[in-house]
Amino acid sequence: MHATDAVHVAIIIGSTRAHRFGPTVATWFHEHAAAHGGLDLDLIDLADAGLSDVLDESDAAVAALAPRLARADAFVIVSPEYNRGYPAPLKNAIDSYVEEWKAKPVAIVSYGGVSGGLRAAEQLRQVFGELHAVTIRDTVSFHSCWNKFDDSGKPLDLAGAGAAATALLNQLTWWARALHDARVARPYPL
Ligand SMILES: Cc1cc2nc3c(=O)[nH]c(=O)nc-3n(C[C@H](O)[C@H](O)[C@H](O)COP(=O)(O)O)c2cc1C
Repeated sequence: MHATDAVHVAIIIGSTRAHRFGPTVATWFHEHAAAHGGLDLDLIDLADAGLSDVLDESDAAVAALAPRLARADAFVIVSPEYNRGYPAPLKNAIDSYVEEWKAKPVAIVSYGGVSGGLRAAEQLRQVFGELHAVTIRDTVSFHSCWNKFDDSGKPLDLAGAGAAATALLNQLTWWARALHDARVARPYPL
């Protein structure tokens, strides 16, 4: 990958329930990432992906999503917290793939009540480690998320949230370029 090539980033909306808040967070982050520059973005909403509730690697919906994940050099998971964990459909989606995650960086944008989704984010780090993915140190987190965005979907603390998102994206793209070059240079050892 040349230094000027766009980095392919898949942003994954991890909540799928009715009346969810996830798209508000993800839409703002997607817009911020688009303005960041140098990124080729793919917004993946698991609510639209049609994955089965039952883990089924032979499912046509799993195959349909695979190329979008395979193409990505980096991922941003937008996840809420449910009872100290992340949503079951997100786990199902993660578990449906192996090669697509391997030796790639994953950043987490979290939101929730008191915790801001940070406990869900820590669980995601463990899971992605098992898949040979590298999670990014910095996060963007919104606690009491329903009080943190205005009616137009912008964070009330636009500067603070934007600075956190920029730091996350800077680290994510550094890892994305480094790991892309490493994957091309030599096979990942298993
Ligand atoms: C079943 C359930 C459990 C929740 N558990 C937590 C929790 O443990 N910690 C927290 O900070 N927020 C918790 N919340 C608040 C959610 O993170 C918050 O409602 C968020 O908007 C959920 O994301 P979603 O609307 O995109 O589904 C919980 C919400 C639900 C529905």
